[in-house]
Amino acid sequence: MTSLAAKWALCGACLLVLSLPGVASAASAPANVAPSSTPAAHHHRLEHAPAAATPIPQIVRQGDRYALTVDGAPYVVLAAQVNNSSNWPAELPKVWPDIDKIGANTLEMPIAWEQIEPVQGQFDFSFLDTLLAQAREHHVHLVLLWFGTWKNSHPTYAPAWVKLNNNRYPRVVTQDGGVVDSLSPLFPATLEADKAAFSALMRHVKAVDPQHTVIMVQVENETGTWGSVRDYSPTAQAAFAGPVPESLLKALGKPAGSWSQVFGADADEVFHAWSIAHYVNQVAEAGKAQDPLPMYVNAALRDPIKPQPPTAYEAGGPTWNVLDVWKAATPAIDVVGPDIYSTDYAGYVRNLELYGRKDNPLFVPEDGNGPAYPRFLFETLGHGGIGWSVFGIDATGYSNFPMGAARIDDATLAPFALNFAEVEGVNRQLAAANLAGKAWAAAEPTDTHEKSLNLGRWTARLSFGLPQFGDPPPAGNTPPSGGAVIIELGPNDYLVTGNHVRVAFALTDQSDPAAKRVTFNRIEEGHFDHGQWVFERLWNGDETDWGLNFTSEPQILRVKLATY
Ligand code: DGJ
Repeated sequence: MTSLAAKWALCGACLLVLSLPGVASAASAPANVAPSSTPAAHHHRLEHAPAAATPIPQIVRQGDRYALTVDGAPYVVLAAQVNNSSNWPAELPKVWPDIDKIGANTLEMPIAWEQIEPVQGQFDFSFLDTLLAQAREHHVHLVLLWFGTWKNSHPTYAPAWVKLNNNRYPRVVTQDGGVVDSLSPLFPATLEADKAAFSALMRHVKAVDPQHTVIMVQVENETGTWGSVRDYSPTAQAAFAGPVPESLLKALGKPAGSWSQVFGADADEVFHAWSIAHYVNQVAEAGKAQDPLPMYVNAALRDPIKPQPPTAYEAGGPTWNVLDVWKAATPAIDVVGPDIYSTDYAGYVRNLELYGRKDNPLFVPEDGNGPAYPRFLFETLGHGGIGWSVFGIDATGYSNFPMGAARIDDATLAPFALNFAEVEGVNRQLAAANLAGKAWAAAEPTDTHEKSLNLGRWTARLSFGLPQFGDPPPAGNTPPSGGAVIIELGPNDYLVTGNHVRVAFALTDQSDPAAKRVTFNRIEEGHFDHGQWVFERLWNGDETDWGLNFTSEPQILRVKLATY
C-alpha cells in the first residue's frame, strides 16, 4: 500500500516553487499539462518549503466555496486521527507505520492539557517537539487537537489541579442540584486557565514551527454536556435570567429579552450553546494572538434526520440546530466540522449539507474506520469539502468496535489507502478546482446503484457494482465502496479518478442532435509530477467501450470528450 501512496504522491514544496500558476489556472485552463513519456521521479507526500518561504495556512473563500491553503496554494486535507491515548512519544513507533500505509497527508494528534501543564504554570512541550520532528521525517502535516476543558463533554484531559478542584473550576449543576462530569462554561477561572494553557501551546508552535508542519488546530474536542441541558448553578441562574447578548440577537434577527422570552422552549439549550461557544471563542482568540493558524471545532452530532431532544446528545455543543448560535459566537473559529459515525448514506449526506454552509467551510474531522466509511471521502469532496479524516488509525491495539472496525489491520487500511492515493494524486488540482466550482465527486449510495453528476455541457453517470466488460444492470458493491472525482481542466477536458465505479459521459442536453454522436477524443492515463501531467498510456478498445471502469487500481485519467 505504501507503493500506492508513493505512486501518486505530490511534492508540495515543488508545487509552491514551480507550479503555483499552473495550480491556480488548473480549474480554468489545461495549463501545466505537458506530454511526456519520461516517468519522472515520484515523491513521497509533502516536503516542506524553506521556513522563510512558507506562508501560513489559511482558509480562503471564493463566492460560497472554500479552500485551505498550505504552502500558499489550495490543498485537500487527507487525514488520519490516532486513538485517544496515542499522544505519547512511546506510542509514535506504532503510529507512523499505519499513517504511512494509509497514505494520509496529515496526522491529527491530541495535545492534552494534563500533558503540557501537569503543574499550573509549568509547561512541557517535549511530546510536541518529538511529534514535529517525526512528522517532518515522514513528510506529513499535523492537525493538533486541543483536549482542554472538554473532551466528549468531560474534563478528563484537564490536569488534576483543574478537574479535581470543583470549588475553583465548577462542574455543571443539574436542575435538581446534582453535578455532572462536565465543567461549566460560566466561570472566569476555568476560562483563564484554559486560555493560558492554550496560549502557551500556540506560542510554542509559533516558535518551533516556522515551516508550518502544523496546518490547523482543533480547539477542544466535542464540546457539550451529557446529563444536563445547561448549568443550573446560582451563577448560571443569574445569567439565564439576564438579557440575551446583543451580538446574538443581531446575528439571529431577534428582539431583545431574557433567554426564555427570546428562545422559549429552546432557551436552556441555546443558553448553554452560546455559553460554551463564547468560551471556546475566547480560547481560540487567545491562541490566535500567538499564532493565527486556522482553527476549528468538531461536533458530536444530533441526528440529522429524526429530531431528538437535547437530553439525547451532548447539549450545548455545535449541533445543527444551534449552528447559527455557534457561528455568531465564534468569529475566531474558522470551521465547525461534523464527526460522522453513521454509515447511513442519506444521514451522512444530510450532515454534509447541514455543516457545509455559505458561512461554514466543510471539513469532516472524524469519520469511522469500518468498511462502509472510506467512500464518504468522495461524497465530502463532492460537497466542496476542504478535507476529511478517518479516526482511530494506529497499531496500539485499540479499536472502537463496534462503532469502527474490529481490527486496524492491512485489510482495514486498504480502502482508505486507495482513496487517499487517488485523491492525493490530484490534490492541488482538485483543491483549486473545488474552490472555483469546477470539481465534482460522489460516493456510492445505498438506495440506488447509479448517480449522475451535472458538469455543465456534460453529465457524468456513475454506476456501481458492474464488471469491466458488458452492460448488465449495476448491482452495487458489497459493502458500498465506490466513488469518483471529476475535475474540469478546460472545455471537454477532465481529470477523472475513483474506484469501484464505472464513469460514462453524455451530453446534458439530450435534445441536442449531437447527443447521439458522443465519443472519446483521447483518454490518457498518467500522473502529476511537480504539478506537471506525465503521460503513461492511452486507454482505448475494451478499456473504454463500456465506459471508464475504475477498479482497485489507483488510476488517474485525463479524458477529452467529443461529438462527431
Ligand atoms: C468522537 C471523539 O471525538 C473521539 O475522540 C473518540 O472518542 C470517538 N468519538 C470514539 O472513538
